Amino acid sequence: MINNLVFQKHSVSAHARATLKGQKPLVLWLTGLSGAGKTTVANAIELALVERGRHTYLIDGDNVRMGLCRDLGFTDADREENIRRVAEVSRLFVDAGLIVITSFISPFERDRALAREVIGAEMFKEVFIDAPLSECERRDPKGLYVKARKGLIKKFTGIDSIYEPPRAPDIHLNTLDDDVSTVVSKVMEYLDARALV
Ligand code: ADX
Repeated sequence: MINNLVFQKHSVSAHARATLKGQKPLVLWLTGLSGAGKTTVANAIELALVERGRHTYLIDGDNVRMGLCRDLGFTDADREENIRRVAEVSRLFVDAGLIVITSFISPFERDRALAREVIGAEMFKEVFIDAPLSECERRDPKGLYVKARKGLIKKFTGIDSIYEPPRAPDIHLNTLDDDVSTVVSKVMEYLDARALV
């Protein structure tokens, strides 16, 4: 017993919830630099899954940081806590039988490994949304790289805060060469080949 808490067993299992939805729960964990295209790709993947009649949920960095994680900033410790919370929320949604798509820079390998552990390795797929920093900076969709270069934003990923690319992502997508529909097709092919959706 930890802190006088007892884990409660429920009558309805995770398996029962997923079976009712006719699907296998899963987390597609998107990681990559700001401007690499995570949000765009996450959106398009969710749409493709919903068009197939799948029950999904998309958890996006900017949105979560306006609610659940609004007390957090961008120090290494705050990013770690951000990812820990998102991993725990994803675990709950997986337990609810959903296919979850997360879209967070999640720059540190250790935090992504923790997410894999919390969610369960068999249900966690690391998806690297890869684009060179120079391309992300060229796109600069939110104008944040310009501010970071001027020193107006501190600890900006890729500028003065590190990004550790996944060494062995489950899915590696390149948004410099491939357009959104190509990228989404690659994800669906991966999932189909393993009978995951
Ligand atoms: S993470 O590092 O903790 O995973 P998260 O994905 O939640 O980051 O949030 C990233 C978003 O916050 C970026 O897309 C950008 O809009 C915004 N942002 C604001 N400040 C920073 C910063 N210092 N570094 C990176 N992103 C920042």
